[in-house]
Amino acid sequence: TKPIQIAIDGPAAAGKSTIAKIVAEQLGYIYIDTGAMYRAITMKALSERINMASNEEAGKLLAKTEIDLQPSEDGQLVFLDKKNVTEAIRSQHVTKAVSEMATHKLVRKHMVELQKQLAKDRGVVMDGRDIGTHVLTDAALKVFMSASVEERARRRFEENNKRGILTSLEELQVEIAERDKMDSERQVSPLRQAEDAVFLDTTTLTIDQAAQKILKLAEERM
Ligand code: C5P
Repeated sequence: TKPIQIAIDGPAAAGKSTIAKIVAEQLGYIYIDTGAMYRAITMKALSERINMASNEEAGKLLAKTEIDLQPSEDGQLVFLDKKNVTEAIRSQHVTKAVSEMATHKLVRKHMVELQKQLAKDRGVVMDGRDIGTHVLTDAALKVFMSASVEERARRRFEENNKRGILTSLEELQVEIAERDKMDSERQVSPLRQAEDAVFLDTTTLTIDQAAQKILKLAEERM
């Protein structure tokens, strides 16, 4: 069997990263979480207090920023200017600001180039919002994963709890719905299901069931 590229897209907190990691591990592929890149540049923009609404300022910031992803035991490590920010980029502060940063054309162009490089000529599972539509357009398998907004908020609530982040379920529902709206309505590469993607509703599936479905689809395409 030859290594393939697997693209997983979908709205916030649909289970993409958890499931993508399992699939990658099972296949011996690398896992790339593209949201982490948008989060990293957002973290820097917040600390440098740049105007988040400006495409040009975002471009200037990118030119003096180094974002590096490294595969690790449990997924992926994220480095921003050589500093390990794997945990820090998950803060609510970054989460609330990231979708605005991700609207900028210069930011997206830069990230998409990096992502294509990382995936070149290897077995890879990549998750994000525009992977099937703009990054790995020739991926052998594209999955569009979703779940009800209530279920997604509940899952994020539990995940945050485990990491010691306290946010109410209501607040998370609002944040997730707002991020989905912004990601779906932006001008440049909005969140869309690719025409050749398989739709997977994970609302009533366990993590393992969802991973098994994707593994089966992957095997059919190898
Ligand atoms: O996947 P995650 O929730 O970490 O993504 C954070 C944000 O980054 C998304 O809400 C979206 O605004 C942006 N993003 C994107 N394109 C991607 C991955 C993430 O615009 N491929």
